[in-house]
Amino acid sequence: MSCIQERVPCDGRDGSGSGRREPARPGWLKGALVTTGVLGAVASVLVSCGTLSRTVVAPPQIPGAEYIGDEDCAMCHDVIAEHFATASHARLTAKGDNALGSGCETCHGPGSLHSDAGGGTDNILNPGKDPTICLNCHLEVRSRFMLRSKHPVVMGHDVIQGGLTCTDCHSPHEGSARPGGGGLSGLARNDACLSCHEAQRGPYVFEHEALREGCDVCHDPHGSVNEKLLVARNASLCLRCHFQQQAGPGVVLIGGQNHSEFLSRGTCWTSGCHEAVHGSRVSSSLRY
Ligand code: HEC
Ligand code: HEC
Ligand code: HEC
Ligand code: HEC
Ligand code: HEC
Ligand code: HEC
Ligand code: HEC
Repeated sequence: MSCIQERVPCDGRDGSGSGRREPARPGWLKGALVTTGVLGAVASVLVSCGTLSRTVVAPPQIPGAEYIGDEDCAMCHDVIAEHFATASHARLTAKGDNALGSGCETCHGPGSLHSDAGGGTDNILNPGKDPTICLNCHLEVRSRFMLRSKHPVVMGHDVIQGGLTCTDCHSPHEGSARPGGGGLSGLARNDACLSCHEAQRGPYVFEHEALREGCDVCHDPHGSVNEKLLVARNASLCLRCHFQQQAGPGVVLIGGQNHSEFLSRGTCWTSGCHEAVHGSRVSSSLRY
C-alpha cells in the first residue's frame, strides 16, 4: 500500500468549540508511515470543507536506487530537460538546500542505477508503460478509471489491445499537462479526442454548437458510471443548456417545440430523436 488518507482538524490546535473535533495526533504521520514500511513520503495537502485531508503518497521506489536530481538526467536527456521548466509538473520539483532538485524523478523514480549504467529500461520507471505512478498522486482520476464506462487505459502489467496511455492526452514534459494547452478553448481541447475519434469530426452541415464547449461538457475523459463516458445518463445532459419551459398544462417546451410526449420515451438521443447528437449532414434538429 502506498497511500494513506487521514482526516485531521483544519486547525491543528485544540479548543475552539466544536465537540466533533478529533484529538490532536502528533505522531500520526510517523505512525502511518511505519505501519506501511515507507521511509520517506511526499505529503500533498488537499484542503476540503472544514478538514484537512492529507494524502501521503510514497514516492516511487526502485530497489537499490537513490534520488540524484534533474541535473544528472539533463546530461543525457538534454532536449527533455531543456523544455521541462514549462511543464505543469515542474512546479513539483523539490527545491531548497536539502533537496536535490528532483523533478524528473517524481514520475520516473530514483535514477542512480539508471544513470550509473549509462541508461537502460529496466532500471527506471516509465509511466508511459505503466501509469500507476501518475495514479498514486491522482487518486480521483484513478477512481474514475475503475468505473463501468472508461477509456481502456493500460494499467500495471496488463496488456490491452489498442489501449491508451495518459500521454495520448496529456503532455508530461512540456507546457500544460491539460489537453489543448489548458486554455478555455473547447475546440483546442477537442483535437486530443478527434485524433482517434475521426467520426465525430464532421464536417457537418448542421453542427451542434455544444461541441464548441469541448467534448468534455458531455463526456468524462476518464470514466463514468454512465455508458459512453457520459456525464449524465438522461435528458439532464441536454437540459443544462436547453431549458425546458412549462407553457400550460401538458405543454413542455424545449427549443420552441412541445416535448411533453417525447421525454417519457427515452433519452434525447434515442432512435427517432436527436440521434446525430454531434452534428448532422441532413437534419437541422440533429435527428439523423
Ligand atoms: C548517462 C546517460 C543517462 C543519464 C544520466 C540518464 N539517462 Fe535515461 N536513458 C539513457 C539512455 C541511453 C536511454 C535509452 C535506453 C534504451 O532505450 O535502451 C535512457 C532511457 C530513459 C528512459 C526510457 C526508459 C524506457 O522505459 O524506455 C527514461 C524514462 C529515462 N531514461 C529517464 C531518465 C531520468 C529521469 C534520468 C535522471 C534521473 C536519466 N534518465 C538519466 C541515458 C541516461
Ligand atoms: C509528470 C510525470 C513526468 C515527469 C515529471 C517527467 N516525465 Fe519523462 N516521461 C513521462 C511519461 C508519461 C513518459 C512516456 C512518454 C510516452 O510514452 O509518450 C516519459 C518518457 C520519458 C523518456 C523516454 C523517452 C520518451 O520521450 O518517451 C525519457 C528519457 C524521460 N521521460 C525523461 C524525463 C526527464 C529527463 C524528466 C525531467 C526533466 C522527465 N522525464 C520528467 C512522465 C514524466
Ligand atoms: C508526485 C505526484 C504526482 C505525480 C507522480 C503526477 N502528478 Fe500530475 N499533478 C500533481 C499535482 C500536485 C498537480 C497540481 C499542480 C498544480 O496545480 O500546481 C498535478 C497536475 C496535473 C494535471 C493538471 C495540470 C494543470 O496544468 O492543471 C494533469 C493533467 C496531470 N497532473 C496529469 C498527470 C499524469 C498524466 C501523470 C503521470 C505521467 C502525473 N500527473 C503524475 C501531482 C502528480
Ligand atoms: C482520452 C484522453 C485522456 C486520457 C487517456 C487521460 N486523460 Fe486525464 N484528462 C483528459 C481531459 C480532456 C481532461 C480535462 C482537462 C481540462 O478540464 O482542462 C483531463 C484532466 C486530467 C487531470 C486534471 C484533473 C481533472 O480531473 O480535471 C488529471 C490529474 C488527469 N487528467 C490525469 C490523467 C491520468 C493520470 C491519466 C492516465 C491514467 C489520464 N489523465 C488519462 C483527457 C485524458
Ligand atoms: C488514443 C486514442 C483515443 C483518444 C485520444 C481518445 N479516445 Fe475515446 N476511445 C478510444 C478507444 C480505444 C475507446 C474504446 C472503444 C471501444 O471500446 O470500442 C474509446 C472510447 C470512447 C468513448 C465510448 C465509446 C463507447 O462505445 O462506449 C467515448 C464517448 C470516447 N472515447 C470519447 C473520447 C473523448 C471525449 C476524448 C477526448 C477527451 C477521447 N475519447 C480521446 C480511443 C481514444
Ligand atoms: C452535447 C453532448 C455531447 C458532446 C458535446 C459530445 N458528445 Fe459524444 N456522445 C454524446 C451522446 C449523447 C452519445 C451517445 C450516443 C448514442 O448512444 O447513440 C455520444 C457518443 C459518443 C461516442 C460513441 C459513439 C458510438 O457510436 O457509440 C464517441 C466516440 C463520442 N461521443 C465522442 C465525442 C467526441 C470526440 C466529442 C467532441 C468532439 C463529443 N463526443 C462531444 C453526447 C455528446
Ligand atoms: C454545452 C451546451 C449544450 C449542451 C450540453 C447541449 N446542447 Fe444542444 N445546442 C447548444 C447550442 C448552443 C445550440 C445552438 C443554439 C440553439 O439552437 O439553441 C444547440 C442546438 C441543438 C439542436 C438544434 C436545434 C435547432 O433546431 O436548431 C438540437 C436538436 C440540440 N442542440 C440537441 C441537444 C441534445 C439532444 C443534447 C443532449 C445530448 C444537447 N443538445 C446538449 C448547446 C448545447
